[in-house]
Amino acid sequence: MTAYKIIDHTYDVVVVGAGGAGLRATMGMGVSGFKTACITKVFPTRSHTVAAQGGIGASLGNMAEDNWKWHMYDTVKGSDWLGDQDAIEYMCREAVPAVHELEHFGVPFSRTPEGKIYQRPFGGHMSNFGEKPVQRACAAADRTGHAILHTLYQQCLKHSCEFFIEYFALDLIMDPDGTCRGVMAWNLDDGTLHRFRAHQVVLATGGYGRAFFSCTSAHTCTGDGHGLVARAGLPLQDMEFVQFHPTGIYGSGCLITEGARGEGGYLTNSAGERFMERYAPTAKDLASRDVVSRAMTVEIREGRGVGKDNDHIHLHLEHLGAETLELRLPGISETSKIFAGVDVTKEPIPVLPTVHYNMGGIPTNLYGEVLRPTQANPDATVPGLMAIGEAACVSVHGANRLGTNSLLDIVVFGRAAALRAAETTKAGAAHKPLAKDAGELGISRFDRLRNANGSLSTQEIRLAMQKTMQNDAAVFRTSKSLAEGMQKVGEVAATLPQIRITDRSTVWNSDLAEALELENLMDCALATITSAEARQESRGAHAHEDFPNRDDVNWQKHTLAWVEGGKVKLDYRPVHTYTLTDEVEYIKPQKRVY
Ligand code: FUM
Repeated sequence: MTAYKIIDHTYDVVVVGAGGAGLRATMGMGVSGFKTACITKVFPTRSHTVAAQGGIGASLGNMAEDNWKWHMYDTVKGSDWLGDQDAIEYMCREAVPAVHELEHFGVPFSRTPEGKIYQRPFGGHMSNFGEKPVQRACAAADRTGHAILHTLYQQCLKHSCEFFIEYFALDLIMDPDGTCRGVMAWNLDDGTLHRFRAHQVVLATGGYGRAFFSCTSAHTCTGDGHGLVARAGLPLQDMEFVQFHPTGIYGSGCLITEGARGEGGYLTNSAGERFMERYAPTAKDLASRDVVSRAMTVEIREGRGVGKDNDHIHLHLEHLGAETLELRLPGISETSKIFAGVDVTKEPIPVLPTVHYNMGGIPTNLYGEVLRPTQANPDATVPGLMAIGEAACVSVHGANRLGTNSLLDIVVFGRAAALRAAETTKAGAAHKPLAKDAGELGISRFDRLRNANGSLSTQEIRLAMQKTMQNDAAVFRTSKSLAEGMQKVGEVAATLPQIRITDRSTVWNSDLAEALELENLMDCALATITSAEARQESRGAHAHEDFPNRDDVNWQKHTLAWVEGGKVKLDYRPVHTYTLTDEVEYIKPQKRVY
C-alpha cells in the first residue's frame, strides 16, 4: 500500500514525449479517433526537435532530378549495411508524401524563386546511386525542427489531443504475461503520482546524448524511454552506434548545421588545407558524418589541428557572403556569435566532432511495435508497447545516420505508429482490470530515490559517467579503451545506491528529477560501452582501431543488450537483408567510399 496519492486515468493511447515523433503520433492517434494523452516532461515546443536545423530528407527533386531509390541507396550505404532494408525502403518511399503532408499542415519551408520547397545538399545524399551530391534536404532556413515542432503541436491541439505537461514517466505498467498496460508518471507541478492506463503506450522520449560530457543534445535527452524498457526486462539494440556530428562549436558543443557545408562551407586544418579532399575525393566536406568526424580527428591527432592547442578545426562560411548567411543560415550565424564570439561573415568557426545522435535504442519493427526478440522469433513484439523517433531503433540508421534522416524518421514512423494502432486497437474498447499492485514498481522507485540518503550527489555520479563515456567510447575506440571504459562505467554504476537527495519535496524537485534521469542514463551508458566492447569490427560510427575493417561475415547483425542491476547481457539478432516490396532489390554490402 502506498502513502502517495495516485490519480487514475484511462485512455486508448498514451504517448510519452512531445518531440516531433511524439507529436506526429499523438496527432495521428487523434485523427484515428483514439482518446489520446501525450505526457511530456517539458512543454512540447521545448522538446529537442526544436534544435534540428538543416532539413528533412525527401527526394522531391525540386532542385534537380532525384529518386527515392537513390535516397534508399544512400541510407543503406550510410548505415554501413546495418540498417534493415525493408524499413529503409518504407522510410525513403514515404518521405515524399510525408514532407508534402507537413507542407499542408503549415510548416513554413523556405522557397525557391518558383515557390517550391527549397532543398539543400547534405552529407551522404547523392544522386544516381552515389554519383555526386544532390539537393535533398527540405529546409526552413536553419530552423527546420523548430518549424515542424510548432506546426505539429498546433495540429495536435486541432485534433483535441490532451496534454499532460511537465509529467515525468516513472515506469511502465506490465502485465505478468508481458503485455504493456500503461505508464506511471509524476506531476512535477503538484507532486501527485498518476497511473495512466492505455491499450497502447508509445515511447517517443528521444535519445541519451547526456550520457556523454559534450553533446549537441538538450539537457532533457536522458534516455528515459530506454530506462523504462530496460527495467521492464526488454532489450536495447545497437547501442554501440553513437554519432559524432562533425561541427559542434569548440568548447560549448552547440550544433552548427551540416547545412552550412551544404551551402558551400568547408573545413580546414592548421595549414589552411581543405583536407576532406584527401579523405572523400567525390563528396569532400559532404561525406557521411562518421567519415568527416574521423577525418577531423585524424587531422588533430597528427598535429594539424588549429588553435593554440592544435585541438580543433576551422569551418569557413565567410566566402558565402552576408546576404546568403542571413537568408539561409541565420540561426547558426547567431549561435556562432554567442557561443564562439565569431562573426561568420569575417572569420571561421572553431569546431570539433561532438556527440549528436543515438542510432541504437528500443528495437521496433517498421510499424513502431516494440520487439521482444527470442531465438525462435527475432521479430516477436510486445503487445501494447510502441516506440518511435530517436528512442527507437527501427533500424533505419544502422551504424550511422545520414543528416536529415532524423526529422524524416520522426514524421514517417510517428505516422506509421498511428496507422498501425488504427489496425490493431479499437477506440473506446474496454480495459481489462489492472492487477492490484499495478504501478507499484514506479512508485517504489520514486520513493526510494526521494528518500535516498547516501554520500554522493547526482551531479558527481553523472559527471563521472559522462567523462568516462566521452574518453572511452569516442570517435576512435580500441580494445583497451573499451575494456577500461566498461570497467569504469560499471564502477560508477555501482555507486548509484550511494546517491544523496537533499530535497525531499515532491513538488518541482529538480534534484529528484535529475536522479531519476541519471538512472535512465546509466542503463544507456552500460548498454553502450558493453555492446561496443563486444563488437570486434569497424562499422559506421563504431571505429575500432584494433579491428579496422567491416566484417560482414561475423558482424552484420544487431546487438541486443539487456541491462539489469548494473549488469549487461548481450545477444544478437539478424539484420533484415530483404526489402519490403519487389520494386527494389536488396542492396548487397559494398566498399563504402565517398
Ligand atoms: O546538421 C544538422 O543540421 C543536423 C541534422 C541532423 O542531424 O539530421
